[in-house]
Amino acid sequence: MFKITVYNVREVETPLFEKLNKDDYDLTLVAERMTLDNVDRAEGADAVLITAFDDCDAEVIEKLAGHGVKYIYTRVVGINNIDVKAARNLGIQVANVPNYSPRAVAELSLSLGLTLFRNVSRAAANTHAGDFRLLPTYYANEIHSATVGIIGAGKIGMTEAKLYRALGAQVLAYKRHPEPDNDVVQFTDLDTLLKKSDIVSLHIPYIPGQTGNLIGDEELAKMKDSAILVNTARGQVVDTQAVADAVRSNRIGGYGTDVILDEDAIIGKQFDSLDDLPNPLNVELMKNYPNVLVTPHMGFFTEPAVEDMIRISFENFANTLANGEPLYPINE
Ligand code: COI
Repeated sequence: MFKITVYNVREVETPLFEKLNKDDYDLTLVAERMTLDNVDRAEGADAVLITAFDDCDAEVIEKLAGHGVKYIYTRVVGINNIDVKAARNLGIQVANVPNYSPRAVAELSLSLGLTLFRNVSRAAANTHAGDFRLLPTYYANEIHSATVGIIGAGKIGMTEAKLYRALGAQVLAYKRHPEPDNDVVQFTDLDTLLKKSDIVSLHIPYIPGQTGNLIGDEELAKMKDSAILVNTARGQVVDTQAVADAVRSNRIGGYGTDVILDEDAIIGKQFDSLDDLPNPLNVELMKNYPNVLVTPHMGFFTEPAVEDMIRISFENFANTLANGEPLYPINE
């Protein structure tokens, strides 16, 4: 029987792994994320199934290979935590799930964007502290007369674009390889998008050496001082110091993010105080609440998306067993 050790299994996932295991894989479900310390749980397994929060560097991969693991599949889109080259050198195949419900992340981006755009977090923070005055800082525009800029117009970016379009916004998009305009978005260069947008939403993958700090001082300076920046991609694609400075000095209107730096040491944990967060840059950023809103990387955490992640991972394995290749191989 094909053995799979599944790491980082959340409570809601356990019944789904059981329900969707139509091919009777021999599953070992591990609640903890994969690290060098618990890689032994994969001893004797054919495959591991991980997420973006699992450590999968060359050292871990070498240990996995020593335990006989031949497949490292992730049930998420992002593969920046996997040393694909190291895996390939050891003859280990890598695959991902690029197409779980794109609405999951897109709807969270939309929520963060609209919450800040309508000054809801600012107003709610005040009312909950007993201040019910109608402050001038709550005065807002309406989304149907706003412009939204989507950076990274792939599946999730285009899904968010459609949601904003349905609300009547004008939607600009930037993509490395632009396409002809369509009835949802108008493709443009990055500068124009930054200058014209009231909400800028990021959907680019983090590729070290390529997309790190894509939004820094220079890009933030091009944005309107009322503009909202939203990040549901990866913490590394923005310069966190620059964003914290820009929000604090009102050079942009706000920052809504589902992703931060050093998530491996943060997500899933409970801290007594924000000051205890591993990276001081995160602390500096988060002190700007309510103009900075941070959620705990929960974009994927919807019923349809979590179910898709497991079902499509099983399809990756089924295809591998039938044809020697997963449905979504990563061959970098
Ligand atoms: C991804 O699919 O890449 C995500 O960011 C979600 C994941 C970390 C659960």
